[in-house]
Formats: sequence, structure tokens, C-alpha cells
Amino acid sequence: AEPGELAGRHVLITAGGTREPLDPVRYLGNKSSGKQGVALAEAALAAGAQVTLIHAPLDVAPPATARLQPIETALELRAATLAAAATADVIIMAAAVADFRPATISTGKIKKRDHGEDPVITLVRNPDILVELVAHRSAQNQQQLIVGFAAETGDDEADARTYAQAKLRRKGCDLLVVNEVGPGESGSERVFGQDNNHVEILSLDGSSPVQSAGSKRQVADVVVHLIAQKLGKNSQ
Ligand code: C5P
Repeated sequence: AEPGELAGRHVLITAGGTREPLDPVRYLGNKSSGKQGVALAEAALAAGAQVTLIHAPLDVAPPATARLQPIETALELRAATLAAAATADVIIMAAAVADFRPATISTGKIKKRDHGEDPVITLVRNPDILVELVAHRSAQNQQQLIVGFAAETGDDEADARTYAQAKLRRKGCDLLVVNEVGPGESGSERVFGQDNNHVEILSLDGSSPVQSAGSKRQVADVVVHLIAQKLGKNSQ
């Protein structure tokens, strides 16, 4: 990113993996560290933006100059994000949102019974926040740029790209940042918690995909620069 290229812009970023409670002491979670989302917040701040960071628990410290809003569950993330979206010029959905949550939250700790039946956890779907953000893009803010993330695996690279293109169209966001997880590699080991990332950024407007590899901050700078370019074009 370049200094000042997002001056005067409000950028809303979500980061981290949501936690879906089962009982007062247990939750279903995922391996997201929040590092890529925090790097995006740092890159957007460096580019002069005002940043709201809505975040699930993180493995790294978020930047102190962002407006921080901690949340835990997907439903909390949804409420906070839809509220903050009203004034955002850019929304970056880097959070790993749980697709499902336990249908009920036990008020007491679920007990281990030596002779009873094994407990069964029933899951219900969480709303797709990214799809809602695209649907709710307000009439007075048609210029709002919405960015999604995806970690794709495929039998081969071409397969993964076709799948990612389909996801971009299905979600309707302007940009989709695709983590490249190749075949035969331990995908979750490669993406989650690491300090480096390798992405391909797909555009709904049909412009050529942009590749970026390096530290999560370097990748964030490329994403932020591309966002600034798209905003510039839209306002012409
Ligand atoms: O469909 P998939 O989970 O791969 O899509 C990932 C993108 O969608 C990410 O940007 C993620 O933040 C967002 N997402 C969401 N709400 C969900 C699930 C994913 O906004 N319930």
C-alpha cells in the first residue's frame, strides 16, 4: 500500500475464528490465528484509513489505533458487522466464521456419564454474513467495496481456481482473496497460524487475477493497494 491512498476512507475488517459455545466452558472453534486480518488492519491504517476491527479471539495483538470491537460468536460478529457496515467504504471479511453452531447452549456444564448414552451435538447453519453484506449494500453507498476470503483445495490448481471463481460469483463480493492450498500439502498447516501467505485475488469485474506471496503484511499491502485502485476507478 502507499501512504495516503486510503485517506478519508472508513475500512471495516473482521478477523479471527469465531467460537460457538456448547456450554459455559466449551466451544466449537477453528484454527484461524487472525494474523492476516490484523495485518490488513495495519496495512489499511498505514494507507491512512480509519479502521474498525471486529475480531474474534486473536493469537496476535491488534493495532491500538484501530477501533476495536471484540466478539466471540458468528451471531455477535454478524450484529456488529451489519451495524458498522452502514458507514464503511470498504469491508474486508477476513474472519473465519463458523458455518454451523450448536442448536442449543447448555446452561450447565455438559456432564460425563459413565453409563449413559454418548451425547449428540445438533448443529444449525449460521447466516452467511458476506452474502448479507452484499445484499444490504445500501442505495446511498453503491460504491462500497466488499472483499471476501476463501481457502480452497482442489485436485489441481485449475480445479481450485474454477471453484474459487464460482464462489466469487455466488457470494457477489467485489474481490475474493483465495488462499492457495495445493494438493498433497497439509492445507491447514500451510494457511493457519503461519506468518506467510500465498494468495490469488479474484475480481468480480473480470480484471485479471493478482498473485501475492510473502509475509501476511506484504500480502495485506497488495490487497489494500488493489482496493485503493478499485475505489479510485469507481469514483471516477
Ligand atoms: O463459503 P466460505 O466459508 O468459504 O466463505 C468464506 C468467506 O465468507 C470469508 O470471507 C468469510 O469471512 C465469509 N463468511 C461469512 N459468513 C459465514 C461464513 C463465511 O461471512 N457464515
